[in-house]
Amino acid sequence: MAAKPLDLYQEHFVHKDFERLDLFHLLRDKYGIRSAIYPGSFVHVTPSFVFPVTTYVEMDKRAKKFFEHPGLGAFVAAHKDYPEDARITYYAQDYQEEIEGEDEGYDLLISQYAGFISKHCKRYLKIGGILLANNSHGDASMASIDADYHLAAVVLKSGSKHRLSERNLGAYFVPKKAIEVTEAYLEKIQKGVGYDKSASSYLFRRVS
Ligand SMILES: C[S@@+](CC[C@H](N)C(=O)[O-])C[C@H]1O[C@@H](n2cnc3c(N)ncnc32)[C@H](O)[C@@H]1O
Repeated sequence: MAAKPLDLYQEHFVHKDFERLDLFHLLRDKYGIRSAIYPGSFVHVTPSFVFPVTTYVEMDKRAKKFFEHPGLGAFVAAHKDYPEDARITYYAQDYQEEIEGEDEGYDLLISQYAGFISKHCKRYLKIGGILLANNSHGDASMASIDADYHLAAVVLKSGSKHRLSERNLGAYFVPKKAIEVTEAYLEKIQKGVGYDKSASSYLFRRVS
């Protein structure tokens, strides 16, 4: 039956209480975000419930079936909370390959558990736009040493509930060990550095 690809969303995100819907609401309300690009999304289509314009870049075959499923539009329409039609674009490709015509096109770049997206996909984020990055694969560390990004806030999590904080931002990204955090070092270790103080995710503003 044709509904199978869409069941993946329930399986991976609803049943695991991992949709992160409240986080996307917080980002929309605080930064006025209307468009987002999500490289390495798998089938995490939740941003489309909140932002009218969303683009996904993902090479997993199951995700291709999901995003190209004829029922996806109706599925998103049933969950979205904005009045206009959802505009969803999907690229079945490696996010390191250039996507033409998308430069500086988005208010939000989403990087969650999928590699160095802050680096490879920066070009798609508007100057002044927001990068949401966690540090599972070291991407928040990468953004923290990139002069094009400034830390704007952190995301703190309690259970599955998120909140944003702008307090004491200078205390984040101080390594526990005396190491020099460089791009080459992060590329080598492929994970986040251990810091004195850490958050669930980090919000960086693209400044240049
Ligand atoms: C652990 S999942 C995370 C999914 C989602 N971001 C989330 O937070 O639930 C990582 C996903 O990133 C995708 N991915 C990793 N490297 C990629 C690349 N270079 N281009 C496109 N997708 C990639 C994988 O196929 C996988 O679906």
